[in-house]
Amino acid sequence: MSNSLLRRKAIVPEKQEGQGLTRTLGWPHLVALGVGAIVGTGILTLIGVGADKAGPAVILSFAVAGLICACAALAYAEMATMVPASGSAYTYSYVVIGELIAWIVGWSLILEYSLVVSAVAVGWSGYAAPLLEASVGVPMALMQGPELGGIVNLPAIAIIAIVAGMLLFGTRESATVNAVLVVVKIIALTVFVAVALPAFDAANLEPFSPFGFAKHIGPDGVERGVMAAAAIIFFAFYGFDAIATAAEETKNPDRDLKIGIVGSMLVCVLIYIAVAVAAVGAISYSKFANSPEPLALILRDLGSPNAAYYLGVSAVIALPTVILAFFYGQSRIFFTMARDGLLPKGLAKLSSRGSPVRITIFTAIIVAVLAGFIPLDELAALANAGTLAAFTAVSICMLIMRVRAPDAPRTFRAPLPWVVGGIAVLGCLYLFISLPAQTQIWFFIWNIAGLGVYFLYARRNAIVG
Ligand code: ALA
Repeated sequence: MSNSLLRRKAIVPEKQEGQGLTRTLGWPHLVALGVGAIVGTGILTLIGVGADKAGPAVILSFAVAGLICACAALAYAEMATMVPASGSAYTYSYVVIGELIAWIVGWSLILEYSLVVSAVAVGWSGYAAPLLEASVGVPMALMQGPELGGIVNLPAIAIIAIVAGMLLFGTRESATVNAVLVVVKIIALTVFVAVALPAFDAANLEPFSPFGFAKHIGPDGVERGVMAAAAIIFFAFYGFDAIATAAEETKNPDRDLKIGIVGSMLVCVLIYIAVAVAAVGAISYSKFANSPEPLALILRDLGSPNAAYYLGVSAVIALPTVILAFFYGQSRIFFTMARDGLLPKGLAKLSSRGSPVRITIFTAIIVAVLAGFIPLDELAALANAGTLAAFTAVSICMLIMRVRAPDAPRTFRAPLPWVVGGIAVLGCLYLFISLPAQTQIWFFIWNIAGLGVYFLYARRNAIVG
């Protein structure tokens, strides 16, 4: 069994001296970390990409993606309280299914977390660039990637460097700063809804679904439909999984993880539906489709430049919380995989402040280069592919454990597990096939490379607990 691709990890991972993370986080930190990670470029920017693909029916795309994500969140909460150890989907898969699937999930999580950092940095730059141009006179060519006619997206690179620096100062400080910025973000979205909703005009919803439901390629070669939009909008809903990666740093994981995951997910679903209805009802979707700062554009179009400015500044101040949370999750995935021997041990070395310094710096360099040159929708779509793989695995893990160990202790049980798990698994697969074909190809290339690393390195070095 020890050499098998199906070998599994014990449920409580063996602590190795000097390698345990400090328990400093309570549930308010986790809800803040969750909302901080969830509300970001998805609602602020990708709503425009979604509107381009689905028209006003982007509201439906939000509902579909939200339902699937909520079911996955319930499965996550159950698994997180059953296996309260660092590594989230990767660790659950290692414990429940076996090493090979765990590796694929871990490798997919690395893709997810890295590309979310890049994508949100590009989304941040979309709101920051007009402010930087107006105040300091930075030329647009240095604030947009080649796809949009620029040379390099320098603000996106700069924000990644700043957040990496914050993380190196340690978890507690970063989580507290994060909590304050989450409030800024929620106030900004509330202002948006307060200004846009009174301008609601049902005529803007006609025709409601100009591109139909299933993904198909339009005459201009762009993939459109409610599901094509949902596959991108999905980006807006995840982030609660970043909480589960902090399990070993949580003071009371049984109680705090479920409050953190389910609570932050519910808060965000409510906010999104309000923002999406307000946005699509306020002006014709074609005006803000594909804008780098669609919500600010809508407010300007409604004759509220001050509200638009306020929203832009808030996005610039608060979006780094999303980068922070995913960066945090990324370094912990690396940490856990390295501790298990699947990645080089040197990567798991902690500084005196308890941060994995090498991983953070290594990741920062790669994601900054990607953010500098690759367009937002491509980064987001590939991040979604990685996330969908992880969510599918977690939902399957939950169902397997219901059969294998129905009476094992769980402080949180997902309601109607077969319905919830079924919607999560089938929904994630449907979202995956609704992603752009190019994205699916990149995802498979990434995983073929991953399997190469697994068979050449990880499998031989694994320390199964
Ligand atoms: N949900 C996060 C965002 O929308 C990734 O930015």
